[in-house]
Amino acid sequence: KELQERIKKDGIAVNEDILKVDSFINHQVDPVLMQHIGEAFAEHFKDQGITKVATIESSGIAPALMTAMCMGLPMIILKKQPSDFKRQSVPEEVTSFTKGTSYELTLSSKFVSEKDHVLIIDDFLANGEAATGAIRLIRKAHATIAGVGVLIEKAFQPGHEKLVSQGFDVYPLARISHMAKDEIEFLED
Ligand code: G4P
Repeated sequence: KELQERIKKDGIAVNEDILKVDSFINHQVDPVLMQHIGEAFAEHFKDQGITKVATIESSGIAPALMTAMCMGLPMIILKKQPSDFKRQSVPEEVTSFTKGTSYELTLSSKFVSEKDHVLIIDDFLANGEAATGAIRLIRKAHATIAGVGVLIEKAFQPGHEKLVSQGFDVYPLARISHMAKDEIEFLED
């Protein structure tokens, strides 16, 4: 609810697809809000044997770090590289529909192994491409997935359905059902 209220106050619906949250989430960051977000994720995903919290750089880092701190666990940052960049680790290609770009996500096997049960945290769930890329990559490291926590779900896009149909526990803190310029509606409203 706190996040929802903040989105109503400071979020800017640029058009029917894009919500600007750069004054409190992904450019300027509100640490108190992030702490409360971390507490909410920690509460929802407690007692599940989670060993690590993972996120995709860069906007997921603040909420993932707070979640990891509340759960007393390490945080892993899945790194983005341009898709033509050569490197040693096995990459997963991810296409961002929102941004119209592709990148390869990488993870060192030093930090995630078959012993890990990983919680994924990200800022937006739109088409679910970033989350499914992260899931594929973590599974390649032989770890299991505990669930996916997102700050803002754009429920009119297919990401949630895609992940839930694969059996994942998806926990969004705010669910937007509809947007238009300067207009934001939430699913609970
Ligand atoms: P998906 O991950 O659910 O498939 O979504 P998609 O590919 O369409 O978009 C992914 C990128 O776009 C992510 O940023 C995500 O945060 C951002 N994004 C999606 N919808 C919105 C929106 O309505 N508003 C804003 N501000 N961002 C949105 P990224 O490429 O991972 O970059 P970063 O910000 O984490 O560095």
